[in-house]
This record gives sequence, C-alpha cells and structure tokens, in this order.
Amino acid sequence: MSGEATSGTPDRWKGRVVLITGSSSGIGKVVAQRFGALGASVLVNSFRSAEAGQAVADALPDALYVQADVADEGECGRLVQAALDRWGRLDVLINNAGTGPVIAHSDLASATLEVWREVFGVNVFGTWALCVAAMPELTRAKGCVVNITSLAGIRELGSSVPYACSKAATNHMTELLAKVVGPDVRVNAVAPGLVDTPRTEGWVGSFEAYGRLAPMRRAATSDDVADVVMFLCESAYMTGEVVLVDGGFSLTA
Ligand SMILES: NC(=O)c1ccc[n+]([C@@H]2O[C@H](COP(=O)([O-])OP(=O)(O)OC[C@H]3O[C@@H](n4cnc5c(N)ncnc54)[C@H](OP(=O)(O)O)[C@@H]3O)[C@@H](O)[C@H]2O)c1
Repeated sequence: MSGEATSGTPDRWKGRVVLITGSSSGIGKVVAQRFGALGASVLVNSFRSAEAGQAVADALPDALYVQADVADEGECGRLVQAALDRWGRLDVLINNAGTGPVIAHSDLASATLEVWREVFGVNVFGTWALCVAAMPELTRAKGCVVNITSLAGIRELGSSVPYACSKAATNHMTELLAKVVGPDVRVNAVAPGLVDTPRTEGWVGSFEAYGRLAPMRRAATSDDVADVVMFLCESAYMTGEVVLVDGGFSLTA
C-alpha cells in the first residue's frame, strides 16, 4: 500500500478502504476522521452507540456505519463483508474497539470469570476474529492491521487485571501475526498510556499522576494516538511493532 499511500497529497488515501472498530467515540472516532480527511472510504462501527456512530459516518465524505458486536465472530465477518459490498476492497483494519470495567487489582473476587470472558471476548477474540475475516482482502490489497492495545499490556498497570492481560495478549498476537502474514500484510500495535476519552472521564487521580510524573506532563489526546496510527499505516516497512504512546509515563511510574 505504502508506495501509493505516502505520496504526500491531501487525498492520498482516496480509493482505499479502512475498517475501524469502535469508531463512534474517542480514539477510533479521531482515526476515522483522519482517514476521511485524507480521502479514504471508512467503515465506522460500534455496538451500543449507533446514533453516535452514524453521526461520525455522516460527517465523512465517504463512509458507512455498521452496528456490530466485535465479540461475535459472525458479526466480524459481517463487518468485513459490509466493506466489500460497498467498496469491493479492504486496505486497512484498525482493531480499536475495547472494553473493561475498572477493578482494583487487589480486589481478586470482583475479577470474576464472567468479567474475564467479557473483556477477552471484545479485546482479544474480537481482534482475532476480525484479523482472520479480513486477512484475505488485506492480502489482496497489500494492506495492514493496527491493533489499539495499551501500556497496561506491557507494564503491570491498567484498569483491571483482566483488561491488562487482554492487552498483553493482543500485543503478543500482533507480533505472532506479523510473522506469518508478511510480506503482503503488515501488523502493528499502538499501546497508549492514559488518553483523554469518554472511557477515562472522571479518572481524576490518573490524570493528576500523568500531569505530575509523565515527562510530557499530561495524558494523551486521541489526536496524539491517531498520529502514530497514521504513521504506522503509511509506513512501508514497519511490522510486528508495539509502539508505546504514553508521554514517557512508564519511565517514571
Ligand atoms: N482511553 C485510554 O486511556 C486508553 C488507554 C489505552 C488503550 N485504550 C484503548 O483504546 C481503544 C479505544 O478506547 P477509547 O478510550 O477511545 O474508548 P471509548 O471512547 O469508550 O470508545 C470505545 C469504542 O469501542 C466501542 N465498543 C465497545 N465494545 C464494543 C463491541 N463489543 N463491539 C463494537 N464496538 C465496541 C464503543 O462503542 P459502544 O460501546 O457504543 O459499542 C466505542 O465506539 C480501546 O481498545 C481501549 O482499550 C484506551
């Protein structure tokens, strides 16, 4: 993809199709807007927030909103098929949809198997199912995958133990997949630290810690994360990387 996609023109993604899960808000929404602004055709997705997802799609030049639960394997296939039905190709898969309740790591009893299954269902199984469903088309298009994981998958941090383990799994999945789908498809991950999104609304203590400890003295914005997603999509050579975007927080915490 990269030869054509990195020409530097404002509409350099025109004719290319990008599927972004969980793009009704936060990081996914900004990534959808970035691709749309560069001329890409964008499949916007969410599970619950259909109205917000439709509004994101309506504001882009060429986009389709599809409501689907990425924890459901059949729905993942339906998402890929929807992109093919509309545009006949798929160039980029951004596995951004993520979930996980806030549970203190010391509260072992609250991290029930039900919670583990729900978190892994979306964050791990959904990511895998979409990669499998999309891979034939991504191979044809010589495309790429970017998984949005987390600092919590690298360091012993995060909103709960199941969430952190799910992100560790998707980091590892990124590397394992990259080994087997090259040279046609590149697979990378972006691992953000704290990002100011609807998910982290009210996480006052965490924002205070980033303001005090992180070398960048603040949490990330969705734009900070989208910058790195776009860079990875436009790279011709990077694959199997998990790129930490935490303002240096993990150097100090
Ligand atoms: N914010 C942070 O500090 C931070 C840090 C590190 C990593 N991340 C990761 O970044 C990604 C985006 O998070 P965000 O902060 O932007 O959160 P957000 O604003 O809450 O957005 C999450 C998106 O995922 C969608 N989603 C959730 N479950 C889904 C499902 N089963 N099927 C389809 N879509 C689903 C949500 O829509 P509905 O719920 O309406 O379906 C929403 O569009 C997540 O993977 C998260 O783990 C976030």
